[in-house]
Amino acid sequence: MPKHLISIHDFSKEEILKALSLAEEFEKNPSRPIFRDKVIASIFFEPSTRTRLSFETAANRLGARVIGFSDAGNTSVTKGETLKDTIKMVSNYADLIVMRHPLEGSARYASEIASVPVINAGDGANQHPTQTLLDLYSILKTQGKLTNLKINMVGDLKYGRTVHSLLQAMSHFSPEFLFTAPEELKMPNEYKEYLNKLNIPFRETTNLEEGISDSDIIYMTRVQQERFTDAIEYERVKNVYSLRQDMLENAKPNMKILHPLPRVNEISQDVDNSKHAYYFDQAGNGVYTRMAIITMLLGVNEL
Ligand code: CP
Repeated sequence: MPKHLISIHDFSKEEILKALSLAEEFEKNPSRPIFRDKVIASIFFEPSTRTRLSFETAANRLGARVIGFSDAGNTSVTKGETLKDTIKMVSNYADLIVMRHPLEGSARYASEIASVPVINAGDGANQHPTQTLLDLYSILKTQGKLTNLKINMVGDLKYGRTVHSLLQAMSHFSPEFLFTAPEELKMPNEYKEYLNKLNIPFRETTNLEEGISDSDIIYMTRVQQERFTDAIEYERVKNVYSLRQDMLENAKPNMKILHPLPRVNEISQDVDNSKHAYYFDQAGNGVYTRMAIITMLLGVNEL
């Protein structure tokens, strides 16, 4: 059976640390054509800029060739081909599949059909485990450690898949969480129950200014318009938070602002030049962590 990365739980703590250590190696030397004989399929049923392009960059830097599509509208899905048949076909062509799909559970389903490793590049509001690994790498790089950090997650904690995966991954490292969200977009109960079971402390607030001064990481998120079924509800919450430079005066010196991107208006442009802004570097770290993930799923653990 091939190993897949569908949920962050598919990687043990040791495998997470292994991926971060490999990513560090790749950052030191990104040109490592160790997979010249491999073909990687990049199949995106939902829009993406960072995830698709950083995966394809990672594959190219590893010497692999890339096939795939960024718009299922140009594929036989439009003729009624099922996800099952599509995955069976792509398994015939590639050594590894990177897939983004709007349906929660679609990546797990694909992994049960595929004869090659499947990487979940985001399935609806569910999970985005490769984003989580690059988030962990960014936290480690900026804080020098992963343990005992105060993480303030802000914005759409209901539909934001990146916060769900990150919360679970950080649970290995004794974190303390603050969840900053309006009532409509609060962290779902299943994740709060998960933290309660592990005795991991968390608080909830609706006030963005409340948690800035004692956070090590402020993890901003976009309100996920594409997940709302009620347009009026989206209109009510779409501008709920906007982080500005003047709000950061009392932030800890080590505090970094992360955001999986794309942003809309939840981080003001004037924050971009702040020493606390790290979101563009964070996106850059995606190449090294995705090189590490591809390497591990293709069965190589040492460089
Ligand atoms: N962070 C992220 O998943 O960005 P894209 O949607 O552009 O891939």
